[in-house]
Amino acid sequence: MQYFDVFPRWPIEPVRAQGCKIYDKEGNEYLDFYGGHAVISIGHSHPTYVARLTEQLNKIGFYSNSVLISLQDEYAEKLGKASGYPGYSVFMVNSGAEANENALKLAAFYNRRKKMVAFEHAFHGRTAAAVRVTDISKYWTTNVMDLETIFLPWNDIDAVRNTLKNKDISSVIIEGIQGIGGIIVPDPKFLQELRQICDETDTVLIVDEIQSGYGRSGKFFAHQYAGIQPDIITIAKGMGNGFPVSGMLISPRFTAVHGQLGTTFGGNHLACAAAIAVLDVMEEENLVENAARVGEYLIRELKKLPGIKEVRGHGLMIGVEMETPIKPLRDKLLFEQKVFTGATGTHVFRLLPPLSLTKELVDEFLQRFKISMARG
Ligand SMILES: Cc1ncc(COP(=O)(O)O)c(C=O)c1O
Repeated sequence: MQYFDVFPRWPIEPVRAQGCKIYDKEGNEYLDFYGGHAVISIGHSHPTYVARLTEQLNKIGFYSNSVLISLQDEYAEKLGKASGYPGYSVFMVNSGAEANENALKLAAFYNRRKKMVAFEHAFHGRTAAAVRVTDISKYWTTNVMDLETIFLPWNDIDAVRNTLKNKDISSVIIEGIQGIGGIIVPDPKFLQELRQICDETDTVLIVDEIQSGYGRSGKFFAHQYAGIQPDIITIAKGMGNGFPVSGMLISPRFTAVHGQLGTTFGGNHLACAAAIAVLDVMEEENLVENAARVGEYLIRELKKLPGIKEVRGHGLMIGVEMETPIKPLRDKLLFEQKVFTGATGTHVFRLLPPLSLTKELVDEFLQRFKISMARG
């Protein structure tokens, strides 16, 4: 049997990783400014994380949600404190798309409405409802087209007001910062007014913090720059530092009803151990503050370089829009300078390094970036 070939891949095979560094089969060392799609939060193979998962695996790795799993309560308490949402509940599932799928469902259980609103250039995942609120039509399949979705222009509050006024929209879903769309930060005033209109029309506001959350933006959640509180917040990626785990933070306005949501793997012992270890390390090493500080430095220094049209983002979620297509430069960075970066579209680098990044590694990155540009 062979693997179903649906992704383009680099001809590089990492076999070991530590902190912000990756090592391939040939022994080459790479700087990781991509974090494997923004997943690596506390750094690769962090000793606390490895110890916690190993210890858990030696006790009990999995049992289903038919029994008590007090690790879920421990995680919930820590997450409430770390995120600034102690009054919310958490429900754990396994991937970003699944978290959004459940959020859209919970909204519809709540207000019994059908239609969903999302924004132009949004990406929310690849399961049925999540892909239907993703503004990339080539991902849509015939069997999701009956899910009614309206895409609105970014930051256009009049369009929101007009669309929600009939009170027939179940939920509005928006990324804390658009990731795959190009690292686009929403206007705080837009988010504040969106929150208000959702309240007035009893529409559920879902903020997808799967990429922008968990400290990446320099605050625990990117929407906290606008001072709003969504009804549901979805999380994944950095939450498990590579262990497949995701979830929703759910406002107290929702009543938990047995049977409405379910999962076999969600919230299992190992997943909880991973998620707890991540929060412990984030707290011990002040990684949210580190992301803010080091990210600010990286953004400031990038802005000084030639050939760059715009640098966008917050913390360590950074979009670098170049004046020319980035492929030659990205290839040079990867194959000659040994730096992993992300991309979106043809002109934008997406930098999503581990939150434990240091100023020294930023300098190293900038040096390699400049060499690659000079050789371009
Ligand atoms: C904002 C956002 N939402 C949802 C997803 C989907 O997550 P997953 O691939 O874990 O299903 C992603 C993945 O890139 C994302 O960036």
